[in-house]
Amino acid sequence: MPKDQTCTVHNPGGDRRVIVTRQLPGEGWLKILTQAGCRVDVRTSPEIPSIKEIVSLIGDRCSGAIGQLTEGWGDELFSALGDAGGTVYSNYAVGYNNVDVNAATQHGICVGNTPGVLTETTAEMAVALTFSAARRVVEADTFVREGKFKGWLPTLFLGELLSRKTVGIIGAGRIGAAYARMMVEGFKMDLLYYDLLRNSALEDDIAAYADFLVSRGEKRVICRRAQSVDEVLRSADVLSLHPVLNTSTRHMINADRLKRMKKHAILVNASRGPLIDEEALVDHCRNNPDFRAGLDVFEDEPDLKPGLSALDNVVMVPHLGSATGWTREGMAILAARNVAGILIGYPAWKGESSLPFLGDDPPRAAPSIVNAEEMDLPEYA
Ligand code: DGY
Repeated sequence: MPKDQTCTVHNPGGDRRVIVTRQLPGEGWLKILTQAGCRVDVRTSPEIPSIKEIVSLIGDRCSGAIGQLTEGWGDELFSALGDAGGTVYSNYAVGYNNVDVNAATQHGICVGNTPGVLTETTAEMAVALTFSAARRVVEADTFVREGKFKGWLPTLFLGELLSRKTVGIIGAGRIGAAYARMMVEGFKMDLLYYDLLRNSALEDDIAAYADFLVSRGEKRVICRRAQSVDEVLRSADVLSLHPVLNTSTRHMINADRLKRMKKHAILVNASRGPLIDEEALVDHCRNNPDFRAGLDVFEDEPDLKPGLSALDNVVMVPHLGSATGWTREGMAILAARNVAGILIGYPAWKGESSLPFLGDDPPRAAPSIVNAEEMDLPEYA
């Protein structure tokens, strides 16, 4: 396999050139692109590329690109991609707040993302953060490693019992609803959710689960859609954030709202960092030691606001929500199918699930093109 200075080049004789800004896991995605007749240039550096570097990677002949949420795909990149003959970009992520979709559309470029394979994986990470915070797992782990454990004590690392309490979620889309089900069905918590849209499937499933509990002689769980974010945060023992990040949700959790939460509440964010005013969170956690937070994402990722890392009541992981082998390989396959699908001329998939695209006989469609309508793509029938 020939290498140039910055890329590993696969299928060098391919008649369409696709660039991939970071090495992706698994082999499946590469096979999809090479079988579609593409030459694939995979950037080898582990560093996050600058816009200038991506422009030079695009060069003057590039049909499509797969990029990362750490890269700002805006007018400059889409203009370079369009000028190089490109017609498709796929984000290697379900979230695409790093992508200016309007700019892409203006340059005639379809934008893909990778929904459906991250749902349970990310929800499980939110659950892991919830319980790590509630039961002080990281503090206690450090205590044991430091040789401070001298025997069982009635008062050692007391945390919060979550069973039968209230979980609040903001944003009841795929991941929020999966997290809510895990917390309700696993720990018999009541659910209060806020979303602009009603999630009837979630409500119906929880109602059926409540009936099941009653049939076994247990108290029912309750699921209710709240009228406002404030209503949720006042009642929640755990609050998990799952809305998309945009100008209306940026800093939705600020100093004022933190003050309205319960003193012993747990705040979880496995969505996007800027949903929380991180400086206000540092202040709040410093002044309220019984309040806890579990964070997968950060406002100025990868940097932390001053003081955050010194707080024992905050548990942090480095944006690992989707980090399981199955999910990350699945994301790579969906991104590759988005790019290959558009280059081949396939229509856009409108089905609920993207899982059929992981198999050996996938639909002849591009699995998830977010500007399909604006780009006038035909719908897969
Ligand atoms: C996404 O896909 O948006 C995630 O944040 C990556 O894990």
